[in-house]
Amino acid sequence: MTEKDFIPKTYSNTIESGSFTWSSPSNIALVKYWGKREYQIPENPSISFTLDNCKTTTTLSFLKKDANEAFSFDVFLDDEKKDDFKPKIETFFKRVELYLPFLKDYHFKIETSNTFPHSSGIASSASGMSALALCLMSVEKELINSDVTLKTTEEILNQEYFIKKASFLARLGSGSACRSLEGDLVVWGKHDAIKGSSDLYGVKYPFEAHQNFKNYQDTILLVDKGEKQVSSTVGHNLMFGHPFAQERFKQANKNLSDMVSILKDGNLDTFIALVESEALTLHAMMMTSMPYFILMKPNTLEIINKIWAFRNETGSKICFTLDAGANVHVLYPEYETSQVLEFIQNELVAYCQNGQYICDVIGLGANKL
Ligand code: DP6
Repeated sequence: MTEKDFIPKTYSNTIESGSFTWSSPSNIALVKYWGKREYQIPENPSISFTLDNCKTTTTLSFLKKDANEAFSFDVFLDDEKKDDFKPKIETFFKRVELYLPFLKDYHFKIETSNTFPHSSGIASSASGMSALALCLMSVEKELINSDVTLKTTEEILNQEYFIKKASFLARLGSGSACRSLEGDLVVWGKHDAIKGSSDLYGVKYPFEAHQNFKNYQDTILLVDKGEKQVSSTVGHNLMFGHPFAQERFKQANKNLSDMVSILKDGNLDTFIALVESEALTLHAMMMTSMPYFILMKPNTLEIINKIWAFRNETGSKICFTLDAGANVHVLYPEYETSQVLEFIQNELVAYCQNGQYICDVIGLGANKL
């Protein structure tokens, strides 16, 4: 599919007002997206596990207004008006207007809440933008005259289109958000080994994955809950002209090929090596861009060293990954849950801000999308 396929033909219904609610999860990348071209096109493909507990729920209410040149909307987080969220949503509306031509016909009220603390460093933009994209798709669906006589195959095609376009729209809000629409494992970005993969939207990982990854665990250690000093968008832009950029993009392609084999064979040692290397490479890109920056904190490193020591001592299959922030995602197989949680309690909680961490489930079968 191309961008053109997401431009709707004329809408046959008119609606005065309404409201839709959607919940959408966050995701954690195993092979990272870092670097993008114009129109939110990723420089390399990425793959993520979908989180099960960390979600955003958004209600979008809409009321017909005189269509004029301005977007009109208000945003609320936990019932509190959030004008500082507006510029990001305004940018999103501008980017998607061509694909959702009704946007200026309505005043929107966007009410959102997260199951995790905002600005905890957990990618609320992924769950937030995907939830909003789903709400907007529901509005579009109402505007397209729904034909009740649709045959089953056509309904399925419509459903597929709904999710695909939601992912396409979410990408235009925040790149990683397009991986939060459907599936336990999601690939975004064109890759030869992944049939159907696209730079325009995320697709469900098309192959069987090994049972070792069933209900894989992700405990997110909240090391630093403050606002990041450097936003992801700024970080991505610093990959332009970055001395190691081209090698990094090649490496991510190869890592995704390798990840396909790892997911098939269930080899947790190679999984660990690839996932940790990806996390550190992401941060190495930040540290070697110009201007350079560091998002890890001393406690991030303390935790990483403790994880390595614990793995050496016990033979555990625990590993870590990082987002664009200081928090640490501790990943481990389901059968190690009690042993690892004890280790976290005894040795890692001390490095978390206010001792806070969030237990989540990723991996196969975890997500009920
Ligand atoms: C480090 O999706 O937040 O989490 O597209 O500018 O909104 P924008 O960036 P964003 O980038 C996050 C990148 C990452 C790695 C990943 O999720 O793949």
